[in-house]
Amino acid sequence: MRDILAPESARWRRFTDVFAEVAELAGYGFVIPPMMEDLGVFTRLGEATEIVTKEMYDFVDKGDRHVALRPEQTAGVCRAYVEHRPITPWKTWYSGPNFRYEKPQRGRYRQFDQVGIEVLGSDDAHLDVEVIALGWEFYRRLGLQRVELLLNSLGEPGDRARYIDALRSHFESADLTAQSRATLAKNPLRVLDSKRSEDESAIEAAPTIDQYWSDAAAEHFATVRAGLEALAIPYTIDLKLVRGLDYYRRTTFEFAGLTLDSAQNALGGGGRYDGLVEALGGPPTPGIGFALGVDRTLIACDDEGVFGAPDTDVDVFVVDTVGGGEAVVLTHELRAAGISVDRSFDGRSMKAQMKGANRSGAAYAVIVGSDELAADEVAIRPLRSGGDQVSVARSELVPDLQSRLEEGNR
Ligand code: HAM
Repeated sequence: MRDILAPESARWRRFTDVFAEVAELAGYGFVIPPMMEDLGVFTRLGEATEIVTKEMYDFVDKGDRHVALRPEQTAGVCRAYVEHRPITPWKTWYSGPNFRYEKPQRGRYRQFDQVGIEVLGSDDAHLDVEVIALGWEFYRRLGLQRVELLLNSLGEPGDRARYIDALRSHFESADLTAQSRATLAKNPLRVLDSKRSEDESAIEAAPTIDQYWSDAAAEHFATVRAGLEALAIPYTIDLKLVRGLDYYRRTTFEFAGLTLDSAQNALGGGGRYDGLVEALGGPPTPGIGFALGVDRTLIACDDEGVFGAPDTDVDVFVVDTVGGGEAVVLTHELRAAGISVDRSFDGRSMKAQMKGANRSGAAYAVIVGSDELAADEVAIRPLRSGGDQVSVARSELVPDLQSRLEEGNR
């Protein structure tokens, strides 16, 4: 778990703002699920996934309830749906931290942020296209180009079950590592996700899901593909794409960051989870969504040199050599006019205050000394560009600075 300090933290906020813009342009409403839920909400994600069996921060609270910090937000959104029964399709977006007890490394942390969307109540394949397109549009707005969309369908539940049987018998007679053998006993699909080179040839030879798609699943997938093509969103079919969570049916997808290490290159992913609401005690309700990892996406942005930390420098720094009281009023006035201002405290020397002004990155220092005070004036000194210090009447300070800053922005 890490501290995110300024200016990096400002970048995180802007990241969420850009995501909010994309989601809200498409009619998605912001949802804030709690960070902790009854453990049962998360065990519904599947007893066969490590996220649930090994990585959860769960504990018994003071009221003897077995609770857990959320490892992701889809389950909480579905639980909220069951509880509030909003009108469908219920289109939501979210942002916030999740917790998984994983081995920390670059791009993998125990507390990590995601932004995401979930839609409940429609199984229209055009919705799958909308959801994927929103993820794609978000990357475009960040300026990322080296992102690959991987697409698969896990079929209807029956297709998936038959495919799992076929995988099990294939892998039982194949040459697998001991770890993959253990995975096979619990969840044959996850064997496909092994990155160990000794497993490669068995995975290569494994049957693929498309041989098990029902007509309905194949048709749904074809509509999704046609929609992406109509939007000119490039994708790669990956019939062995399996995701870490167990709830997926039909469309699944991942956004891979091509500049990242292949073990950690999933910037985000999602898919349909049509049975999850029912598993949480609600009526049969289809659902689809995705979540994007903030950390990894920002690593990809660094790699591509896009979406850097925003400029958080103030516009003005007030230097007050007559005791600091003038700066109280000046900073207040300037802030009220929408100009960002900082100052120093503790009665520092003129020299120390000017040093602070330079360090602040401000475009102008506004200086009040005893001469200025006596003449009811202030001095303005440009800090970024060269240029002479000028004196202006105190009453002219706000409009004067406003026009200088406007000029600077032009
Ligand atoms: P997920 O694939 O487990 O899916 O996580 C989505 C993204 O969160 C990953 O691609 C990755 O960028 C980021 N992520 C996951 N774990 C970590 C970690 N330990 N450290 C840093 N980043 C991480 C889900 O969470 C599903 N809820 C997505 C979804 C929404 N499916 C349907 N709706």
